[in-house]
Amino acid sequence: MSTPKRAGNQPVVIELEKDTKYAWCSCGYSEKQPFCNGAHKNEGGVPMIFSVEKDKKASLCTCKLTSNPPYCDGSHRTE
Ligand code: FES
Repeated sequence: MSTPKRAGNQPVVIELEKDTKYAWCSCGYSEKQPFCNGAHKNEGGVPMIFSVEKDKKASLCTCKLTSNPPYCDGSHRTE
């Protein structure tokens, strides 16, 4: 995979629902951040499919520098 594009400078805080499959954009080219819109087909990479065990609010990474995808780990502040 090529180097991801930085898609934002802060995470998106969102309510995630239990038993729903989400596709987090790992390439940074999606216009529906933080989720995949299929743009990776032209840019390389694949989305990260994930779900949560219970409804929860989460901060999803948009800078694509996190060490804990799809969640923000604060990397956008230092890199
Ligand atoms: S558009 Fe980025 S992973 Fe699909």
